Amino acid sequence: MKNKEIAELDQKYIIPTYGGKAIAFSHGKGCKLWDVEGKEYLDFLSGIAVDGLGHSHPKLVKAIQEQAANLIHTSNLYLIPNQIELASILVENSFPGKCFFCNSGAEANEAAIKFARKYGAGRYEIITMMGSFHGRTYGALTATGQEKFHKGFEPLLPGFKYAEFNNIESVKSFITPKTCAIMVEPIQGESGVHPADKEFIKELRLLCDEKNMLLIADEVQCGMGRTGKLFAYEHYGITPDIVTLAKSLGGGIPIGAVIAKEKVSSCINPGNHAATFGGNPLATKAAVTTLNIMFEDNLIKNAEVMGNYFKDKLENLKNKYTFIKEVRGKGLMLGVEVNYSAKEILKKCMEKGLLIGTAGENVARFLPPLIIQKKDIDKGITIFEEVLNNI
Ligand SMILES: Cc1ncc(COP(=O)(O)O)c(C=O)c1O
Repeated sequence: MKNKEIAELDQKYIIPTYGGKAIAFSHGKGCKLWDVEGKEYLDFLSGIAVDGLGHSHPKLVKAIQEQAANLIHTSNLYLIPNQIELASILVENSFPGKCFFCNSGAEANEAAIKFARKYGAGRYEIITMMGSFHGRTYGALTATGQEKFHKGFEPLLPGFKYAEFNNIESVKSFITPKTCAIMVEPIQGESGVHPADKEFIKELRLLCDEKNMLLIADEVQCGMGRTGKLFAYEHYGITPDIVTLAKSLGGGIPIGAVIAKEKVSSCINPGNHAATFGGNPLATKAAVTTLNIMFEDNLIKNAEVMGNYFKDKLENLKNKYTFIKEVRGKGLMLGVEVNYSAKEILKKCMEKGLLIGTAGENVARFLPPLIIQKKDIDKGITIFEEVLNNI
């Protein structure tokens, strides 16, 4: 079947929560994807920060195949050794604490919200940031500080306040005796790749310590090595009380995780929260393998080095094209703000075989696989510049 025929069937059978779909991929390898008509694409989006190892990494494929042949799912009613191994890797590489596993970023944030309220023991208010994105389920949606996502779905959950990102005085103004937590993305992804200021995160940490509130870092997009550190909070010299993860944690197999300090996990009792599929043998095998490959192949360092190389190239373009306003981000999470429609740029890049993302109306977003090398970045930059030359 051709792309067009598949698109027609998509329109017939799929509820249109996503717009603008025009191509279907048949297979991928490393940073490349091929569509059903055989056209090759360079993937600078990684399924929105999911395919950190690129496509069909042979070691990950092998691990998933072997695990599937052995055991796919049991239940959290039983011990799951792969889950315990994954939790130990996450805890040993973050801070003393424990993990909860689920299936997505929104679910990880739902769990974090519930755990924070349990910790709060009657304190239920949570401060999040304007411009944040935390997911589409009701708790995560309410936590999301962007009205456009709320419209049509009210009433939302009570108890959420939205402070100005990178403005500590604004955060302070929303604290009441009922505040139990502050939730923040170290780098806001969906609203346009906006990194938090170092001072801001440090002050949030102090504020949370002072008022016995929890600091929750949503690292669903910016975690898992993408910024050149395993966790983005490491850039800030602090540890949060809760970290939420998903996206590239399972290398493409759906899995979400919460890492919580002991003071939080000790408030949680059997029956307080659950997820049928959460951390099943297959998903946790995929995540353990993904992390091991990241460590063995130095992919976190690669994200830092290639990220700097990529950012320099984008900065060069900024010096050439006046309609580029700003280049932002860390590691391989980069955004280019333009005085132009980012959607149009995305479309033109796609026509030329380069897959990129957008964030908001005017930001072209780059989230390439962490395995990326200079030659792929050069090729992508050449295509991106060809597109910029023609607008
Ligand atoms: C920072 C952040 N949190 C949460 C989510 C929601 O994740 P999911 O789509 O897996 O529910 C996203 C998704 O883009 C995200 O970027």
